[in-house]
Amino acid sequence: MNKPEDIIRSISIDEVGEPLTYPVEAFISPEYAAAEKELLWPRVWQMAGRVEDIPQVGDYFTYNICDESIIVIRTAPDTIKAYYNVCPHRGRQLVNTPDDCNQVRGRKANFVCGFHGWTFNLDGENTYILDKPDWQGVLDDPERICLSSLNCDTWGGWVYINMDPDCAPLEEFLGDAKRILDHFEFDKMRYKWRQWSVYPCNWKTAIEAFMEPYHVAGTHSQLLKYGEYYAYSKPYGLHGVSGFDERDAQHKNSQSSSVTRVGRKDQDPRISTYELIRENYETVNYAAATETLVNAAKRLVDELPEGTPGNEVIAHLMQSAKADDAKRGVTWPEIPPEIAAEAGLAWSLFPNQTILQGATFALCYRTRPYGDDPNKCIFESYALERFPEGEEPKPEWMNAEPTAEKWGSVLAQDFDNMEWVQRGMKSRGFRGTLPNPHQEQKITNFHRVLSEYMGRGFPRLFDK
Ligand code: FES
Ligand SMILES: [Fe+2]
Repeated sequence: MNKPEDIIRSISIDEVGEPLTYPVEAFISPEYAAAEKELLWPRVWQMAGRVEDIPQVGDYFTYNICDESIIVIRTAPDTIKAYYNVCPHRGRQLVNTPDDCNQVRGRKANFVCGFHGWTFNLDGENTYILDKPDWQGVLDDPERICLSSLNCDTWGGWVYINMDPDCAPLEEFLGDAKRILDHFEFDKMRYKWRQWSVYPCNWKTAIEAFMEPYHVAGTHSQLLKYGEYYAYSKPYGLHGVSGFDERDAQHKNSQSSSVTRVGRKDQDPRISTYELIRENYETVNYAAATETLVNAAKRLVDELPEGTPGNEVIAHLMQSAKADDAKRGVTWPEIPPEIAAEAGLAWSLFPNQTILQGATFALCYRTRPYGDDPNKCIFESYALERFPEGEEPKPEWMNAEPTAEKWGSVLAQDFDNMEWVQRGMKSRGFRGTLPNPHQEQKITNFHRVLSEYMGRGFPRLFDK
């Protein structure tokens, strides 16, 4: 293996499937967390929230990341802008963002600073300064007294911000992830529920708990009763995908890598598929499937003859669930089979957004640092779904204790690893990470990209 001092650059994307290791400094070091504030967060596109939260002109929400607070606001029917949440006079936040509030939302005709009353319109222009002549003309330059704006764009119903004035466009940053995931029309989905918690682990420890199904056998062993969980994982540029793998090619179909798939093959697939989908739905907090899919799966045993092969069971299920949804005014996107296959199970968009997608639903996570403490993070999860128009539930952010009662039993099992991974990684007895070269490439690729931004923590290949 290379000596650490030999490593001056990250591995290439073609090497993420090699046996390798990456250091734990990124998870536990206060100096590393401080460096992230300079080298990572100000240089990446990050998901700030959902477009659905700001439907009317003047609607805004705040997004806080480390020491920064951003205001995202709809300034015209088809324009969303982002400003740093700070008054140019003496630096008061324009919108107070207390730590116990995950996101502040409201509607403004203009922003009036609470300290000395300087006022700004929706376009960020200063419209009022008390006793402006006292500055002897210095404040006549509108650039000196307006709000500071930053890059802002939307994709899939999410709003993204980037603090780097010279950043590449969002579309380029998303790359193949956009090409594939556009077909799922996330912009037509709405929040079903949304919850957050301050959790005692690093933001990367938290997001990595949701990046690979390799942990299912060890963490969610009850699920082995319903399906097989062998998985692949691979990079797409900065981002990555994981999906269920078929060891036997005869079971492969366009849905077999996704969450909506055949249940255990050693059982009647009409029954095992229903049981798998129902279990996913009920134990993942009514996400990872929909009621329509569960009900359609329940009928499989009545609608299909015994001995129907698994791929035909799935084709029938998708058709009948789609027809059921059409009757209640929910349209499915047309996803070409090769895209469904390529889309797999779940995506990680660098650095901190995770999407587990289905035709009409998505289960999503985002994690962020909490203060300067590398051992704490803000953990958020939310479910999106396509609803009949006018029937969207419009839930608010709920601060929820990390328990099975609040999050479902499967997420509670994931929580029960995160804190102890955070502690374990600090042991001098820990020789370093050993990610699975086939099933955990998404994590390895994350560290490849992260180390490039950070200029440290490069993954190191093992000699074979
Ligand atoms: S700090 Fe905003 S008006 Fe003085
Ligand atoms: Fe899990």
